[in-house]
Amino acid sequence: MYEQISHSVLNDILVRLEPEMKSKDLKHFYIRLGANFYAIYNLFQQLYGSRPDFKDKLYVLVKTLAQAYVARRDALKHLDFEREKVHDWFLHQRWVGYAVYCKEFAGNLEGLQQHLSYLQELGVNMLHIMPILACPPAENDGGYAVSNFRKIDAKVGNLKTLDALVTNMKAREMLLVLDVVVNHTSDQHAWAVAAKQGDPYYQDYYHVFDDRSIPDVYEETMPEIFPETAPGNFTWDAAMGKWVMTVFNHYQWDLNYKNPAVLIEMVDIILFWANKGADIIRLDAVAFLWKKMGSQCQNEREAHLILQLMKDCCQVVAPGVLFIAEAIVAPVEVTKYFGEDAINAKECEIAYNATLMALLWDAVATKNAKLLNHGIKSIPDKLERTTWLNYIRCHDDIGLGFDDQDIVRAGYDPKSHRAFILDYFTGKHPDSSARGIPFGQNHKNGDARIAGSLASLAGLEHALATGDAYAIQSSISTILLLHSVIMSFGGIPLIYYGDAIGMLNDASYLGNDAKKEDARWIHRPSMNWDDAEQRKVVGSVQYQIFSALKKMIAIRKEVEAFADHNNRELLEVDNPHLFVYSRFCARDVKARILVLCNFDIQPQSLSTALLRKKGFLQHALVKDVVTGEMISAMSEVIEVPALGFYWLNT
Ligand code: GLC
Repeated sequence: MYEQISHSVLNDILVRLEPEMKSKDLKHFYIRLGANFYAIYNLFQQLYGSRPDFKDKLYVLVKTLAQAYVARRDALKHLDFEREKVHDWFLHQRWVGYAVYCKEFAGNLEGLQQHLSYLQELGVNMLHIMPILACPPAENDGGYAVSNFRKIDAKVGNLKTLDALVTNMKAREMLLVLDVVVNHTSDQHAWAVAAKQGDPYYQDYYHVFDDRSIPDVYEETMPEIFPETAPGNFTWDAAMGKWVMTVFNHYQWDLNYKNPAVLIEMVDIILFWANKGADIIRLDAVAFLWKKMGSQCQNEREAHLILQLMKDCCQVVAPGVLFIAEAIVAPVEVTKYFGEDAINAKECEIAYNATLMALLWDAVATKNAKLLNHGIKSIPDKLERTTWLNYIRCHDDIGLGFDDQDIVRAGYDPKSHRAFILDYFTGKHPDSSARGIPFGQNHKNGDARIAGSLASLAGLEHALATGDAYAIQSSISTILLLHSVIMSFGGIPLIYYGDAIGMLNDASYLGNDAKKEDARWIHRPSMNWDDAEQRKVVGSVQYQIFSALKKMIAIRKEVEAFADHNNRELLEVDNPHLFVYSRFCARDVKARILVLCNFDIQPQSLSTALLRKKGFLQHALVKDVVTGEMISAMSEVIEVPALGFYWLNT
């Protein structure tokens, strides 16, 4: 949009920029900058407009963008054009993600290259490598405490080995997802070190206070993220003689986005990794970006403005690069990270679907889909050109982040229901064979989350220990049932490393001083490649899970209705154990799929009359596209096996 004030500011900026950029071909940069500048100006103005150095800082931002554009390789610029043409390419059902810790999965980046064929065998074509940047040896929160945003941790590789990996992945048409930890740095980062040494310029990169008076006011409303290991939100730094805001661990210093220099640094870092070949950038802990006294310091309006600004800047330099929002927040808040009051994404194109994840675990524990059905309805519609990352497990804990009102609607009391779920997954409940452990217990308010591997939470650890063949099959069925949802629900399924071979909890972290206090390490094992070999042995647990997932993935890729164009309809059915939805395809009405999931340990049935009334089952036989089985639509009911699912073409 053309607007006089911002345009005259842009003219001034371009005059200043010209001498430096004279010999460069900036045609496409200028076109995109022109298209986005009104928005960039506006957002920058809302955030920093009252500062005397506002225009100077805006100049530095644009110069940063121009330099990043010049540094972008031709091959990546070409990819940007391709993706501009097929602007909703990532909504296609072909994408299947997989998340790894590089060191635990493959030792280092070179090792990771060796294992790309394993991922391809499964059908994965989007790889999220969790932080691989320089970080302190012990206090690093699994890499989420970065000490140098431009250097790869020497233990896993360097820019050259990453480049080799990128080349290999591009040849295999695999997407690379890298993290940028935008909310905080390690206390060993050069900015923090300078701040500790008393440099006021870098102290202004963080939230630093001389005494407790302001921190105490913040504490009145800020929740604790790691109440057991890092209570409170501030840490006294003796070297600096000041308090610093540390929402996560005491060694993770929160960045101060009220300072535009911080925003510009982060935009530069995002573009640095975009230019290293990342197709998608995962922005960590985005809900926390803006701190406001008297609030929870999460989901603040300004956090959204910062993300919009980051997106607008990225579109100017690398429009083919997508953002993932890691915002594990309430259902009504999470969709705002796609952007509000817009048609298309204007913040992040992709967001973690933590609500679906937690609801699925609820269904496993209760053996019914009551809360799942209510909870899904509470997630507001998302914008066009946005999609979910649907997952069952990841490197973090499971928070019971569903809405209290939905719990009531499902017929439970919120407090006792949450206590039941916690007891269930930590194996305390008499009916439970889950083997999770509590994480983040807050004795002040009774909150707690759950850690544990998918297989252990689904009962496999216990079943194997007791040698109960029936229980082993039930836990395998649970693992597959959960995957059947993330494969078909709408969005990109994200498989967590180890889950495709049923890896169990790994308690070895307890022997490591740097990890033993953080229970999440129980589900961050070293990949057991010997076990992975068992996937080739017909009948083994690994074979059963891996081959079924592989098949599901291959089928997902063929079913056009699984592309994510907000083309899902949840079906109310008369059996609470069943979760039923249809996926349809605007182009071809016959390509509709009806998904039936049974969370109960007994077979459950569904009235065919009801389905016919809703326009399904118009023929005598319907086909389950997973097994190829033909199912009669003429009988009164369709029976879904215990912990089973169907993808019916109807
Ligand atoms: C994100 C990461 C988590 C980390 C936290 C702080 O939530 O997923 O592992 O502890 O950010 O960086």
